[in-house]
Amino acid sequence: MKWEKKMDLWEKDKKHPMTHKDVDTSYAISRLDAGRMFLKHTKSNVKGKKVLDVAVGSGGILCSFAEKGAFCYGLDVEDYFLEISKARFKELKLKYKKISKWKGGGYKIPYPDEYFDFIICTDTLHHAPKWRYFVSEICRVMKPGAKIFVGEERRWFPQYILKSPHDNMPFTILLPKKLRVWIQKNILKLPSLDHYMFSFSFEIKNAFKKYGVELKDIDHMKREVFERNKYPEIIWPVYNLMFMHFIGTKQK
Ligand SMILES: C[S@@+](CC[C@H](N)C(=O)[O-])C[C@H]1O[C@@H](n2cnc3c(N)ncnc32)[C@H](O)[C@@H]1O
Repeated sequence: MKWEKKMDLWEKDKKHPMTHKDVDTSYAISRLDAGRMFLKHTKSNVKGKKVLDVAVGSGGILCSFAEKGAFCYGLDVEDYFLEISKARFKELKLKYKKISKWKGGGYKIPYPDEYFDFIICTDTLHHAPKWRYFVSEICRVMKPGAKIFVGEERRWFPQYILKSPHDNMPFTILLPKKLRVWIQKNILKLPSLDHYMFSFSFEIKNAFKKYGVELKDIDHMKREVFERNKYPEIIWPVYNLMFMHFIGTKQK
């Protein structure tokens, strides 16, 4: 079955444990271009490099690294996504080294210290039950001098306040995590929506800095990286408020 068809089925599967309202087929399609543009505009050379996507999702970003000759590894907590990303590699006639289930998602990364040259961690940190621990694990598996692409969303963007991307409800995104999770589980009957929503980019930057990884904003190149969306000029300052994107390097 084609990967897009699998993605459509995933969207329809209401029993699905993640119940992501923020991932749909068009988002999944756009990830390939986002990865390509990221590599182009950051002038990243990943040929022959070991790259890990810590939550490979629909696989688009990792495929863009494979196109440039990287040795690709992917992890995900969702069997559905593992199938989808493998199907996507196959359809694009690309190779991966290993795409595998991450049983304790967000906790111990099943690879040795200083194993990877590049980490992809996009729209993922907020899913980790203990995101600071997740950051320490990511930094542990990075080689000295390794690079990282981090993408995150912010909680206080008006569109998200009116309709949270994770439960489609107004104002839940503003609630403290424990109360929000309680409402999601007990009132909305949604399982596993244990998200931490970031307010400020310094929260993320400081967490990585503790482990010697310096993150830099790539706001100035977002227009190019996400050009597929072709938003009008006026939207960009707002877009930058909504999403945070960084490139980072681990100290040698
Ligand atoms: C919004 S998707 C992003 C997918 C992909 N990184 C991308 O940018 O296209 C969020 C991903 O986080 C994964 N995820 C959910 N819970 C997780 C956890 N506890 N630890 C790690 N990843 C998790 C989901 O399965 C999903 O693939």
